[in-house]
Amino acid sequence: MANILGIETSCDETAAAVVQDGRRILSNVISSQVEIHARYGGVVPEVASRQHLLAIIPTVERAMAGFNWGDIQGIAVTSGPGLAGSLLVGVNLAKALALARGLPLTGVNHLEGHIYANWLGSELTPSFPLVCLIVSGGHSDLILMRGHGDYLRLGRTRDDAAGEAFDKAARVLGLGYPGGPAIEEAARAGEASLPLPRAWLKGSDDFSFSGLKTALLRLVEGGKVSLVADAAASFQRVVVDVLVNKTVAVAKRHRAKQILLAGGVAANKLLCDDMLRCSPLPVLSPPPILCTDNAAMVAACGYYRLKADRVAGWDLEVVPGLSLP
Ligand code: KG4
Ligand code: ZN
Repeated sequence: MANILGIETSCDETAAAVVQDGRRILSNVISSQVEIHARYGGVVPEVASRQHLLAIIPTVERAMAGFNWGDIQGIAVTSGPGLAGSLLVGVNLAKALALARGLPLTGVNHLEGHIYANWLGSELTPSFPLVCLIVSGGHSDLILMRGHGDYLRLGRTRDDAAGEAFDKAARVLGLGYPGGPAIEEAARAGEASLPLPRAWLKGSDDFSFSGLKTALLRLVEGGKVSLVADAAASFQRVVVDVLVNKTVAVAKRHRAKQILLAGGVAANKLLCDDMLRCSPLPVLSPPPILCTDNAAMVAACGYYRLKADRVAGWDLEVVPGLSLP
């Protein structure tokens, strides 16, 4: 039995969690900066690192309340991708704790962490090979996962990430930040009635969302949007259609046993429902609170890394542009 302390500071959430054997969440603390960044309409890197500095120790203390350090067998920290100044806060604290307590340390790829949110708390165990759609604020990746730590990237976005597209569309529609939840909420009262383009990129497993954003902007500027709710519903419909169709096609072609959803956009109910409806394969997705940034997913991934002896040295670096694999 191993309890791993996870630490996450890659973007705008300061988070710490303790997870048992990569599956059972014992504590999960998320200190969000969203309200601060919402004033600026997006994440301000300098503000984010300063907030992490203020929040990281109280967040770890809360996650460790009820535990002694002797209960912890390893430390996992996000080392990339993300904002350099933000990542440094988490990585430096994780190194200090590992040094002080004589614990093994592992650096976790944030995207790999998002995938491992699917191992948390669920009765079902993901089985390999599987296809994972990672859709976050910075990434839209289709990954073939053949085993723990074994990834092949099949597709990626050529321009905007899915979450970024939601955030930009929300800005165009005056719906605030973060855009994903705002669009989802507005869309509830709307009809997907506006003509917006779907970029299929035939013959490729990549995505493209920037044309969609531009088309939406043209409709708004041209006075063609009378109901924001209809625009939100139309936009969401197009993004979900493309993500679902391409993911199901890739999973079939690679004879995957399952489809996994991961990242902040996987919190979208229409995406989860449509993927379940359209996929002949079982579909797993984490509960919404584990789709967006958290440290439990980092601890879960860290457990499997440490089990495979993938221990980091004191030279563990932050890598803002880290990709998967
Ligand atoms: O994974 P995440 O928390 O942070 C990154 O690693 O980027 O993803 C954040 C992104 C944001 O772009 C946000 O608008 C989007 O996930 N998002 C959603 C929803 N909740 C968050 N997009 C669509 N529907 C949602 N319910
Ligand atoms: Zn994330």
